[in-house]
Amino acid sequence: MRAAPAATAVAHPNIALVKYWGKRDEGLVLPLADSLSLTLDVFPTTTSVQLCPTATRDTVVVDGRPATGETLRRVVGFLDVVRARARRREPARVDTRNTVPVGAGLASSAAGFAALALAAANAYEVTLDPTALSRLARRGSGSAARSVFGGFVQWHAGPPGADDADLASYAEPLDDARLDLAMVAVLLRTGPKPVSSREAMRRTVATSPLFPGWLAATRTEVTAMRTALAAGDLATVGAIAERNAFGMHATMRTAVPPVDYLTHASHQVLDHVRLMRDRGERTWSTMDAGPNVKVLCPAADAQRIAAELGEITGCPTVAARPGPGATMTTGTCS
Ligand code: PMV
Repeated sequence: MRAAPAATAVAHPNIALVKYWGKRDEGLVLPLADSLSLTLDVFPTTTSVQLCPTATRDTVVVDGRPATGETLRRVVGFLDVVRARARRREPARVDTRNTVPVGAGLASSAAGFAALALAAANAYEVTLDPTALSRLARRGSGSAARSVFGGFVQWHAGPPGADDADLASYAEPLDDARLDLAMVAVLLRTGPKPVSSREAMRRTVATSPLFPGWLAATRTEVTAMRTALAAGDLATVGAIAERNAFGMHATMRTAVPPVDYLTHASHQVLDHVRLMRDRGERTWSTMDAGPNVKVLCPAADAQRIAAELGEITGCPTVAARPGPGATMTTGTCS
């Protein structure tokens, strides 16, 4: 008897140096601007998809527990996109294991949906090149498009009004990036966030008076960031990344009602990173939809900087380097 197809894939989180914040199409997950990120070598997510032809519905297990509510709805919605592409109907069992705390602004959804996209495409026998896989991963969580690739990655928004908007929005690895940097994550709090990034993004675009200014700056900063990466200019990379992240948080803090993911401890780390820079360290901060601060620095300094930030906060720190793109760990078994 032919066993039902199954596939397992692994993907790593990415942290944006120029952020994605705001959609122009909620259904297709099309962003308002390009973004640019670094895929990390820590916190992999491993996801298996097993087709279950005799089942009546999908089953989703996250870190050993059955998923419910919004998480279940998003994964089933994503499987529906894959099934429509494959012209198949079988339900699946999805089993995903994170090593990163979920929902804490540490890009668990980027790693999760990149791994799910690769595993599901294989299980449902949809053949996709990496660019097409990034378009598919985008449908699960925008930032997941970037975790399909390793190292520095640009996600193209695609021109507004493109004939095929889905086709025009994909991620691409930046092979000309020449920097030996690291990213130190300070794990201040690892519980789930009070407002989802999806909701915070929507609210910011609709109500923040600062959003148009930040969006215009972001469009310029993507180009400036590419130039700085190609030139190996860490000071410019760090300055742009920090400014872009502060700008993104300013937009959400001026939304109605405001969203503020940063805590007292986040501000303590941000202040300390600035103090380190004043005494000559090459350190710059970035923050996502959560309180945890990530610090860019030269690879050679990462362990020392991680130790110092651990000491002043009393919290765990992780020094990450550029990591790989999404890969299969087992093939389709038939
Ligand atoms: O992909 P989402 O919907 O989880 O949004 C990610 C948004 C940020 O992490 C705040 C920024 C980014 O570009 O990753």
